[in-house]
Parts: sequence; structure tokens; C-alpha cells
Amino acid sequence: MCGIIGYIGKEKCIPKIISGLEALEYRGYDSAGIAYIKNNKVIIKKEKGKIINLKNNLNFDEETYLGIGHTRWATHGEANKVNAHPHNIGKWTIVHNGIIENYAELKLELLDKGYTFKSNTDTEVACAKLDDLYKDEKDILKTLKKATTIFKGSYAFGIICSDDSSNLYAIRNTSPLIIATSDEGNFIASDVPAILNYTNKYILLDDCEIAKISNNSINIYNSSLEEIKKDILTFEGSMEVAAKNGYEHFMLKEINEQDKVFKDTINFYFDGTIDSLKNNFSFLDKYKKIDIVACGSAYHTGLIGKYLIENYANIPVNVEVASEYRYKKCFYDKDTLVILVSQSGETADTLAALRKAKDDNIDTLAIVNVIGSSIAREADKVIYIKAGCEIAVATTKAYTAQLAIFSLITTYLGFINKIIDEYELTNLLDDFKKMPKEIKKIIDDYKKYFDIADKIFKNKQIFFIGRGIDYAISMEASLKLKEISYINSVAYQAGELKHGTISLIEKNTPVIAIATDKKLYEKTVSNIKEVKSRGANVILVSNQLPDDKFYDDLILIPQIHPILVSILTIIPLQLLAYKVAKNNNCDIDKPRNLAKSVTVE
Ligand code: AGP
Repeated sequence: MCGIIGYIGKEKCIPKIISGLEALEYRGYDSAGIAYIKNNKVIIKKEKGKIINLKNNLNFDEETYLGIGHTRWATHGEANKVNAHPHNIGKWTIVHNGIIENYAELKLELLDKGYTFKSNTDTEVACAKLDDLYKDEKDILKTLKKATTIFKGSYAFGIICSDDSSNLYAIRNTSPLIIATSDEGNFIASDVPAILNYTNKYILLDDCEIAKISNNSINIYNSSLEEIKKDILTFEGSMEVAAKNGYEHFMLKEINEQDKVFKDTINFYFDGTIDSLKNNFSFLDKYKKIDIVACGSAYHTGLIGKYLIENYANIPVNVEVASEYRYKKCFYDKDTLVILVSQSGETADTLAALRKAKDDNIDTLAIVNVIGSSIAREADKVIYIKAGCEIAVATTKAYTAQLAIFSLITTYLGFINKIIDEYELTNLLDDFKKMPKEIKKIIDDYKKYFDIADKIFKNKQIFFIGRGIDYAISMEASLKLKEISYINSVAYQAGELKHGTISLIEKNTPVIAIATDKKLYEKTVSNIKEVKSRGANVILVSNQLPDDKFYDDLILIPQIHPILVSILTIIPLQLLAYKVAKNNNCDIDKPRNLAKSVTVE
């Protein structure tokens, strides 16, 4: 996520803004910038890369008392200087955190009005729109009020208008923004860590509220421009706690972001119409075979992508771990698309597999989180997930965002291959819309899964079983558990147990059985009964309420289209793994021996 800081007060603003940006570095970023007013002129400095590159171009003693700063996690457009914030058009200079979903149509409108753009960011478009509105409204607050009715999507803006060098402005929708107050002046910030060096007194700006901030006053207006009173809150805690937004671990914070991440990822490519999917995915039409290549959890998303695409689009899919694929004989041809999945976009084995396919002139598509990463840059095409910066080594929100992309690709290919008809498409589109709420409901039910974790966390081995897509889900659930709790956990195809592994089942061995595929449900139930009869402690994860109680605990998954069910199913198991690891006092965000991105072979 991007980081925002602004200051207006009695002291020089550059040191405060830079220290605020440094406190936000944990959010991850790829460029940084600052804008400040000096002699009634707005000066902008911005650099690609780390904040030190920006600091090297600044005079910290500059006589300036109003400024805004930004660390950018690229969502639209490469990580480079021209796309870095702040952006300026006419009298308006802004920094932004979020995604303006209707920026493309706004841009066309503004181009028709003669606006030109230096960057390919949604933020510069938003800035031009403010300039455009201001020409009619001729009043800053009225311009901002109008803007909140036009901008769609998530945004937190820090705003300077050169017609008013005595005030800093801010508006937000969905993306967080606080206003902090101190004896030396007032701040805006994406979250508390940015201002903790100066104050712990802050106000939460709510959606569509507008803030006008001077060096000794804070005025907040609602969307009708009526002034409203807001409570001043006090943050009691360390910088570290603040960075986790109050959660104990980044992993738990990121699990809790999955409803928003799903929405941000889907909405970027899909407005509910098949036409929007055609606009984004029609390049897939020509392929007759797909290879999905990745590592770890990204590989597990590929296994799910395989089940979905083969069953709903009738296209054969081969899924391989990149460390094998890079050395094996590949039977691909001009009708094959090689899809590389990678959160970091820097995993060495996946990058090597990409380069191998390109050397063989095979088309490549990357599904990546980090914009401008090596895999993103070198693939022929890239689809970005909108997970924001993922800090915990154990991936959660990026994993489910990758699944969201596979769900969209499956929906598109299924429809154009006439396997998904209009009727099913309508139901499926409705289910896409329901997903953020369903994800949130599961997350809010976390105590259920924590209670189950409290029963099994002392076990030395915990098994997962499933058939078909449920086996792929169980592989990810097992990896989550073992990588953060260090418990020996294995995922087995449920039908394979009788061929050897059932000998491992002892009394009270926890077996987490995933059964969401209706076609295979009865088969999986009979496998569950096999382990139950040998003393296993069965935790059933299913979207069907069984008639008889052949299980010890039940995690019920809400009804949703099978193309989306794997996203809901993994979330309770992420939470269960988290609580098992917490009960075992493990280092959840930084598990032993692991790195967030494996950039070596
Ligand atoms: C997932 O929890 C692990 N941290 C790991 O398996 C990870 O998915 C794998 O290393 C691939 O990383 P990437 O998505 O950045 O390529």
C-alpha cells in the first residue's frame, strides 16, 4: 500500500515529512516524493527507489511549513520517477493511496478537454479532474465535495491547492486517513506510525469527509459541506504495534485484508459485465493448452487454476513447480500459453522457467503482485493482483488474490467456450459481488477456527485430505500450517490413504478433511470414515451440512459458485494455522529458515 504524510505548522515541514515516510517504509514501496510550498510556489521532488534517494535531493532546512509526502506501492504504471507521487496539474498537487476504478473514463473525458498526462497513473487523472472541477466551482471545498461524487473506488488524498497556501486538504473513501494534532502543527497520514514521533492524538477521517487543516485548526466537513465535530483519539502503543494496525502479527492483518483485496483485484478487471472480461482477457482466446508454473503457494493456486480451467473451459492445463519445469523437457508449442504465478515477481526458479519458455518462443503470462518486478517485466503479458504489500512470509492475501484472477480467467474462458451459459453466468456474477461480504463473515467467525486450533496445536502431526480441487486446497492449508507452526503436516489425496499413508493414523491424529466438490463428496466422506474408524480426530471442512456426525468438528463454508469456493475454503484454514502457530509461540511473520522471496536457486 502507498503511504501518505502531510504537515502544516510552525516548524519546517521537510524533516517531519521525511521521518513520517520512513515510519511508513514497512508498507513496502518503490518510489517516494514530496511537495511543499515555498514563497507561494509548489515545489515537487520525487525519486524512484528508496527514501534515501529523495533525501539526497532535499534541503532539510528549507523555509517551508506546508507539505505532503508519499511512498508509492505501484498499482497503475511502472515503478519509476514519472509515476511517483506527488502529481501536479494546474493549481492542484496531490498524493494518493488507493485505486480510482473509473480513472480510464475520466482520462478520456479530460483528454477531450485538452488535458495532457505525463504519467500513466490514476492519481494524475484524479489531479486533473480536481483542476477541471475547480474551473467551474471556483471554491476548493466545493471542488472536493464534487470530486467525492465523481471518483469511484478507494482513495485517500493529501491535497495542496496553490490558491490557498495556509491550508492542507484531505479527502478519503475506503483507504484509511488520519488527521493528527500537535502543539507544533497538524498532520495527515495513512496511519499512526507516520506521526508517532510527534504526537499520538489523532482524528479518523471517515468516507467522503473533507478536511481543511491549518497550522492551528482542523475543520472537517461531511459530503454536504456541513462542518462536523470528530473525537480526538489517543494511540497508546509502540510504532511496531501501530504498523500492524493493532493486529498482533502482519499475517493476521493481511488475512483480515482479504475482503478488500478480493474486491480491489476483481474490480480492476471486471465491472460485472462479460465485456470487461473480454477487454482484459481476450488475448487468451487463441491458446489450446496452458502450462502453469510457480513455487510454493503460488504453485497451489496453479493447481486450483487447473481444476477450474479444465472443468469450466475445457482447456488442458499442466501445472508444475518451477524448480522442476526449468530443467525438464517441455512439450509446449505455439498453441501453448505458459502462465507464471508469483507474488514477489522475483522467485529465481519461476524467473528461470519464464526465461526458458521465452527462449523457446513460447507465449508467457505473469500473474504477479509486485509491479515492475522481474517476472512482470520479462513476461509477454502481465496481470497484476491488487494485494498491496504483503509483509508476512506466509502468503495469504496474495494467494487468494491470485485465485481471484484464476476465477476471472475461468469465467471468461468458460463463457466464450460456451460451457458457462448466460444463466450460469448471471448466477456467477452475483456470487462475485457477494464474495467480499462472505469473506468478511468467515474472517469475523475466527473464534470458531481458533477454538479448533486450541484442540490440536500440541499434536506433532496433522494431516489434510481432499479429492480433486479439495486436494489442491489441502496442499495450501498444509503448507500454511507447517511453515509457521513447524508441525509436520502433509496433504494427501483422500483416495490414496488406503495405499499406505493410513498406517500413520493413530488415536486422536487430527485429520482435516476438505469436501467442497459436490461430485466427490460421498467418496471423500467414505475416506473420512476410514480414518475415523482408526481413531482420527476429524475436522470436516465443507459447504454441505452432513446428515450424520462422522466428524469431530465442522467448519461450514457458505454456498457459493464452485469457481469461487476455494477462496472461501482456505480462509478458516489460514486462521487455524495462525492460531496453532501462536499457541506454539512461533515467529509467525518471520518463520525460521524462510524468506519472503526466494531469489536464489
Ligand atoms: C507461501 O506461504 C510461501 N511463503 C512460499 O511458498 C511462496 O509462496 C513461494 O516462495 C513463491 O513465492 P512467490 O509467489 O513470490 O513467487
